[in-house]
Amino acid sequence: MMMGELQSLASSGLPAVLVNALTLAVAARPQDKAQGHYELQGDDVLMNVMQFATQGPEQKKAELHAQYIDIQLLLAGEERILFGVAGSARECEEMHSAEDYQLCSRIEGQQSVVLKPGMFVVFMPGEPHKPGCAVEMEGEIKKAVVKVRASLISA
Ligand code: CU
Repeated sequence: MMMGELQSLASSGLPAVLVNALTLAVAARPQDKAQGHYELQGDDVLMNVMQFATQGPEQKKAELHAQYIDIQLLLAGEERILFGVAGSARECEEMHSAEDYQLCSRIEGQQSVVLKPGMFVVFMPGEPHKPGCAVEMEGEIKKAVVKVRASLISA
C-alpha cells in the first residue's frame, strides 16, 4: 500500500508506470465523466469511474486482485478505506480470475486510511482492501479506480 496526493505526484516516489497511469487518468478528466469503464492504455491501464454512497464497513466485504494493481483515487466526498498487508486476507471466497477479484470477510491486523479529494492509495496484488466506507456519516462520493497490469512493473 502506498498513498499520495495528485498535487505532489511528481515527488510521490511511485514507480514511473504508476505515475504515468495516474497522469493518463487525470488527463481523461474522470470528474467530468459518467460512471463506467474506460480503457486508458489498451487493457494494460483501465479506469472505472464510480459514484455511490459510502456505507458502514460491516456492510461490505474486502477485495483483492491478482493481475492488476489498484489505484483508488477519490474525486469528491470523503472515503475511508480499510486494508491490510499482502497475505492478511481471511475467510476468502473463490477467486474470480476472469474479473480478477476475490472477496474476503476479514483482514488480519486491519488498517484504515481516510481519503480527501485528490488523494489516492495504491494496492498491490494480494493486498486486501475495503473501499467505499463511511467516515463519520454515510455520504456520496465520486472516485476513479485506475487498474494497472501488475506485470508492467514486476520486472
Ligand atoms: Cu480493488
